[in-house]
Amino acid sequence: MKRTLLTLLLTACGAVAGTPGGPADRAPAIIAEAFGKLSAALTKALASEGPAGALPVCATTAPASAAGTGKAHGVTLRRATDKPRNPNNAVTDEERKALSAFAASLAKKEAPEPQLIINPDGSVSCLAPIIIPGALCLQCHGNEATDIAPETPAVIRKLYLHDKATGYRSGDLRGLWRVTFPAPPPPPASTPKPNP
Ligand code: HEC
Repeated sequence: MKRTLLTLLLTACGAVAGTPGGPADRAPAIIAEAFGKLSAALTKALASEGPAGALPVCATTAPASAAGTGKAHGVTLRRATDKPRNPNNAVTDEERKALSAFAASLAKKEAPEPQLIINPDGSVSCLAPIIIPGALCLQCHGNEATDIAPETPAVIRKLYLHDKATGYRSGDLRGLWRVTFPAPPPPPASTPKPNP
């Protein structure tokens, strides 16, 4: 597949097309900021509304919050997974490849390395793993019998008819962040010399 040939998977997101110190070096900080903002909004909504009440908040806040953080940094930000709650977050073929690489590292008890993709339009994406850190997430993504409050599943299914995003445990690979840095602008067109 042509797209696969264009896909470069390197071990460090800073090494853009062999140029260490590339723009994707900023990816970890951007992801940390986006994750921090989402976690803070979640914690606040959970404290005031409980998981079932926080779900609708999360449904609107999560995509808007990620988009806002991306915009502030001049990048696009997306979360993707092989078991989506929101079908917009389903992995593409190349994202699935990155997820498999992360899963393979975790199976070997190694830290998964962020992956780099050069997109056909020249933009660069850095893909980094999202691992379930703990009980906070399990209230909406854990085991329905043991982690999720009895009133929550009905709210999930009302909002997301085809939800696949439960059954996780702490330490599980939940998905990935994708930070896309725009392609550098083309060099200025050479202006014809005026006639003498
Ligand atoms: C209050 C319930 C709730 C909690 C707690 C929660 N999530 Fe979610 N999660 C959601 C909802 C709702 C969505 C769908 C958001 C959307 O429509 O984009 C979602 C989507 C996601 C996605 C995007 C992929 C998909 O399935 O659509 C990831 C990744 C994710 N959550 C990870 C986490 C992590 C990690 C934690 C813990 C830090 C967490 N979630 C805690 C409700 C929750």
